[in-house]
Amino acid sequence: MIASRLIAHRGCAKLAPENTLAAMNLTQKLGVDWVEIDANLMADGSVVIFHDDTLDRLTDHSGELKSLSYSDVADVDIGSHFSAVFKDERILTLEAMLDVLAKQEMGLNLEIKRYEHFAPTDIVNPTITAIEQCWKDFDRLIISSFDHEILKLIYQAKPDWQLGQLWEALPDDWQKRVDAIQAVSVHLDHTLLTPPQARAIKDAGLDLYVYTVNDVNEATRLFDMGVDGIFTDDPTIFR
Ligand code: G3P
Ligand code: MG
Repeated sequence: MIASRLIAHRGCAKLAPENTLAAMNLTQKLGVDWVEIDANLMADGSVVIFHDDTLDRLTDHSGELKSLSYSDVADVDIGSHFSAVFKDERILTLEAMLDVLAKQEMGLNLEIKRYEHFAPTDIVNPTITAIEQCWKDFDRLIISSFDHEILKLIYQAKPDWQLGQLWEALPDDWQKRVDAIQAVSVHLDHTLLTPPQARAIKDAGLDLYVYTVNDVNEATRLFDMGVDGIFTDDPTIFR
């Protein structure tokens, strides 16, 4: 099942601060019904929606997630780096974000990050628990990761959940890897995808999504190549 032609990357990251409630609300307002967000792990085991392994790029604090607990960052402003209008945006836990997206009836591509400060199981176990508690519509959930071990663990625990394997460029042994986790989709860097690769992925019966496309002509080229959907920071350019 194709998720959507347009998936709001980090929730329209060009139009609102990435991975925030404001970005999710804007995505919904724009009529885009799928969003991609990043799950990350903190020192106390909290899974949070945050792309980086440090606070530096997105806040006026510094520090690594590996040495911080959720209570340390709960009041940190993650909106002002984008615009003062968003000064009240805060890091959401995975549970809180899932609740918001479920109420919005949004389709979700949850990308699970893998940083060196944690092992795959450390993030997989609480992520599965949160999803079990907060999510109902599993046709509207795809879990992806660059980390094959993370996806394997989820597949072993939840063989029915839809998984997407993320890569920058398609590796030679891609078919073996997607088979090992019964992936429904492959997610690739759009600049590295070749037409024969796109054909091979589609011939294998997989859905094909590419990141991050913020140009209409490039999107047209990719759709013509057989790509099913694109991650974009700005869905308004496709109107
Ligand atoms: O899931 C697609 C894309 O988000 C992967 O890269 O760094 O934007 O999380 P990144
Ligand atoms: Mg991502």
